[in-house]
Amino acid sequence: MAKGKTTVFYCQNCGYESSKWAGQCPSCREWNTFVEEVVQKGVSAREAVKKRENLKPVSLKEVDTSEALRITTGMEELDRVLGGGIVPGSLVLVGGDPGIGKSTLLLQVCKNLTELNKSVLYISGEESLQQIKLRAQRIGEFGESLLLLCETNLDTISEVIKARKPDVVVIDSIQTMYNETVSSAPGSVSQVRESTGVLMQLAKGIGISIFIVGHVTKEGVVAGPRVLEHMVDTVLYFEGDRHAAYRILRGVKNRFGSTNEIGVFEMRDTGLEQVANPSEYMLSGKPENSSGSIVACSMEGTRPILLEVQALVCQSNLAMPRRTAAGTDYNRVNLLMAVLEKRLGMHLSACDAYVNIAGGIRMNEPAIDLAIVLAIVSSYKDRPVDEKTIAFGEVGLSGEVRAVSMVQQRVAEARKLGFETVILPQVCLKSVEKLQGIKIIGVSTVKDAVRCI
Ligand code: TYD
Ligand code: MG
Repeated sequence: MAKGKTTVFYCQNCGYESSKWAGQCPSCREWNTFVEEVVQKGVSAREAVKKRENLKPVSLKEVDTSEALRITTGMEELDRVLGGGIVPGSLVLVGGDPGIGKSTLLLQVCKNLTELNKSVLYISGEESLQQIKLRAQRIGEFGESLLLLCETNLDTISEVIKARKPDVVVIDSIQTMYNETVSSAPGSVSQVRESTGVLMQLAKGIGISIFIVGHVTKEGVVAGPRVLEHMVDTVLYFEGDRHAAYRILRGVKNRFGSTNEIGVFEMRDTGLEQVANPSEYMLSGKPENSSGSIVACSMEGTRPILLEVQALVCQSNLAMPRRTAAGTDYNRVNLLMAVLEKRLGMHLSACDAYVNIAGGIRMNEPAIDLAIVLAIVSSYKDRPVDEKTIAFGEVGLSGEVRAVSMVQQRVAEARKLGFETVILPQVCLKSVEKLQGIKIIGVSTVKDAVRCI
């Protein structure tokens, strides 16, 4: 064990501290809440005073930012999610389910960086050199400046990083790394936290950018109780249905840019391909002239995405009708159905209802409410909606259609993809300019909207 460091165990529930592990916390009586933590021996009082004397506030104007020039990853989709490229000295966590394509994405970033003559160090604790090479061969030609290392001991890794000082380091994955100061197994909360701490000091100390791969646990968080997210500068989640080809990279936290942005990729046999126009991609395969289907427009950051909302409403044989919502919020669908029941007098309580956002994408923006409502009505009445129509707007409990943001962008996207009619909230009418070739219908209640289809 390194000098000056000891480990303690503490209860995650009540904070009770103990020198050894216990199954049950003696204080709050919760089971399995103990985790190990490394504590640094405190700085002596004199040193602390000395440190404080050196502290001097600086004027915001005097802070020098000229160094923070971003490095492009060679992938526009990724650059946008990062806020315009990689910030030197930043620590970026790329999370996602196993097998979603995190290693592939980062290896492709390495390839692009070597083409720009940046030195890159790819450290893998999961795959052998041969396996990485095989993957790399599918992706394409790599420059000379990519170095590989198969290692899991973090002390060795930090020695190598300090000696080589590459521009960018990739750690694949944080769950395989271990730190000798902590006795628990790799992948445990304390190991992951300690390892990230070491990497953060390296990134900030030497000014290199580090990408960390983190597998998501069953609960959908990286290594337990979000231990990593507050330590790193940027958190990106790579998501998508493993069986569908497209993948979405979503910014969850970003100290250097907006978190609303997404990047869309498609998994091919030669690696990940950027999808420049996701709307077109999402709408491919849309059925023609069938009831229960309508296109909605949702904003992902600054990007409008058109997607197909489908509903299937049929007579139920069950005492408790079955309801499902794939790709959107289940409770929201129930709420919207209750609005239809009360405000339009539709007898949905005797019907099974299945709502689906086609393409396996997840959308929770309230702006898709109106499309969900119209899809349900269309299926219930078995009346197809005109194919060239899109609808968006938030639906309130009184059946009113409420305003949404960025109306102009949504309408422009619909026009770009050849739609001819847009149903939108009445209150938004004043914020859209008239565009040629597209009819805009403002509606103030769900009843009005249903009359339009
Ligand atoms: P991988 O990057 O290993 O996932 P992760 O690191 O997130 O666990 O990608 C895994 C999947 O991607 C694997 O099932 C195979 C597929 N794949 C392709 O379809 N095409 C390719 O060119 C590559 C490299 C992988
Ligand atoms: Mg991997």
